[in-house]
Amino acid sequence: MPVRKVVIPAAGLGTRFLPATKAQPKEMLPLIDKPAIQYVVEEAVSAGLTDVLVVIGRSKRSIEDHFDRSLELEATLRAGNKEAELAEVIAIAQMANMHYVRQPEAKGLGHAISFARDHVGNESFVVMLGDDIMVDDTVLKRMLAAHETFGCSIVALKRFPPEQISMYGCAGVDAGGVSDDGLARITKLVEKPSASEAPSDLAIMGRYLFTPTIFEKIAKTPPGRGNEIQLTDAMSLLLEDEPIMGVVFEDGRYDIGNKLDFLRATVELALARPDLGESFRAYLRTVV
Ligand code: G1P
Repeated sequence: MPVRKVVIPAAGLGTRFLPATKAQPKEMLPLIDKPAIQYVVEEAVSAGLTDVLVVIGRSKRSIEDHFDRSLELEATLRAGNKEAELAEVIAIAQMANMHYVRQPEAKGLGHAISFARDHVGNESFVVMLGDDIMVDDTVLKRMLAAHETFGCSIVALKRFPPEQISMYGCAGVDAGGVSDDGLARITKLVEKPSASEAPSDLAIMGRYLFTPTIFEKIAKTPPGRGNEIQLTDAMSLLLEDEPIMGVVFEDGRYDIGNKLDFLRATVELALARPDLGESFRAYLRTVV
């Protein structure tokens, strides 16, 4: 059965981005004129995935509103003959079948994903983390293709220097290493290891494709790093029973939970925009 469903965990408190996230979900922080979570949903849609479940917490109502119709706004745009804006706001509400489930307490990424179990059922599914913005939408497509070939769980990996690996989950791979087409068989997973404990320089990026077995493994995962139910630990349990493959990529990913990367994403996305790029580039030349 082809993969159809995407889960986006969005119940975190966004403490890395206070005070902007005091009363607003971090997923709604705009990159230029679009909230971050819209980039993620667009990436899913461009890979052919249109069933999206967002795991939300308190103060996340604006995410639901964003992907819903806004009849009052539409009437105002219509009355003002703002046809392009009208088409854009209607398209946002139609781009995917959006579903929501509430995670009452944020007890870790694995815990968040466990709330998707009823919606996902017995199908393989994708998890996309909203902090990771991918301008390269081929990564998810490569992951779907790898799943079709190998039938197992797949995770996106990117190389990082030793001093940065402790910010991520890290994957050890078998003796074959990474193949020419960027595939590797994972043998070990460690959440945020120190440089000396890291099994490789390959870090887990926020794109996963899981067989439904992951739900059984999450249910058996004790609290780990930070006293949270870690998805990486559940994946280690999964690895005991099923293979997990890595899809390695190089560029086009921003960690917008990191302030410098958030700025980098804003600048690079603006430079790539046909309506803004040229004048923004000219402006930057005057300030640097
Ligand atoms: C999470 C995962 C980690 C992964 C990272 C990717 O960490 O736990 O394994 O490498 O996302 O962005 P977080 O950024 O939520 O601390």
